[in-house]
Amino acid sequence: MADELDVLESAALAELRELQTLSQLEAWRVRYLGKKSTLTSALRALSALPPEQRRTAGAHSNAVKASLQSEYEARKQELSLSTIGESIGGACLDVTLPGRALPIGRLHPITQVIQEICSVFARMGFQVIDGPEVEWDYYNFEALNIPQDHPARDMFATLWLDSSEDRNARLLRTHTSPMQIRIMEEHRPPLRFVVPGRTYRYEATDATHDWMFHQVEGLAVDSDITLRDLKETLFEFCRSIFGRDTGVRFRCDYFPFVEPGGEIAIECFQCRGGGCRLCGSTGWLEILGTGMVHPDVLARCGIDPSVYSGFAFGMGVERITILRYGVDDIRHFYSGDFRFLRQF
Ligand code: DAH
Repeated sequence: MADELDVLESAALAELRELQTLSQLEAWRVRYLGKKSTLTSALRALSALPPEQRRTAGAHSNAVKASLQSEYEARKQELSLSTIGESIGGACLDVTLPGRALPIGRLHPITQVIQEICSVFARMGFQVIDGPEVEWDYYNFEALNIPQDHPARDMFATLWLDSSEDRNARLLRTHTSPMQIRIMEEHRPPLRFVVPGRTYRYEATDATHDWMFHQVEGLAVDSDITLRDLKETLFEFCRSIFGRDTGVRFRCDYFPFVEPGGEIAIECFQCRGGGCRLCGSTGWLEILGTGMVHPDVLARCGIDPSVYSGFAFGMGVERITILRYGVDDIRHFYSGDFRFLRQF
């Protein structure tokens, strides 16, 4: 019995030294130290021995078990370390190596300009909200005094989601102006809101046109708003964005949902009025459309036009960004080209 245990011990230890993996080690443990191992059965058989023999055999078996157990633990430690070493690619790890810098992202130029525009208006007391890009005909056209067959629909090449003949047709909003209606339906004056967001047009793309672009809409309604408030607010806006000494001009223009309607332009900062390619030799750069909210539009939203008046405006964010930074092609913005985007 004693001899058998010694043979077993030396065989087990010899095998143990040859093991290369943790799974081989586990198989070894089951074989030599597990419940069904020779050693465990030997220990179990001790009770059948006469007391004298039991003591010596017991001590011996326990010594063998303890020796296998401690060699097992030591080998396990060794194999675990070398497994970690392999998984990190070699035995040596240079802890002094500097970490790799994570690339830091930035806001898209259009997002930056939207934030800047909104913060100028926020300083003047306007709230910023957004609205749906999929709109009903009613909000995009009808409620803005552009009923079906109105020639002004030609101003907006529309991406329809349903048949355009259908009065309840859905479309991708062609401007942010539908939010004027949603705001006036939900809130009572005094109102001051700006609405940034995506807009869509069914249009062939070129250097100055894209089928998706951003606008910022604005609306102010109160009991005593006049054209003077419109001009003060929007001139101040233009000077905040383009510089204090920028010349600003208001001229009449037509939009069905405002009366009078107008357009605001800034003096061309490239030629200072002398005439160049940027301003098409006019000396002026159009920045936004605007006007006093049409009484019919107010009334349609349940706001009494004999008590209240308001002004509205809408501007193209890509256009403003292009003018400001001298971008030569609107398609750069959504090309995903880092060489372009990193400049902002
Ligand atoms: N929605 C117009 C467009 O996309 C721009 C515009 C003009 C907005 C006059 C307004 C406005 O709020 O009063 O061309």
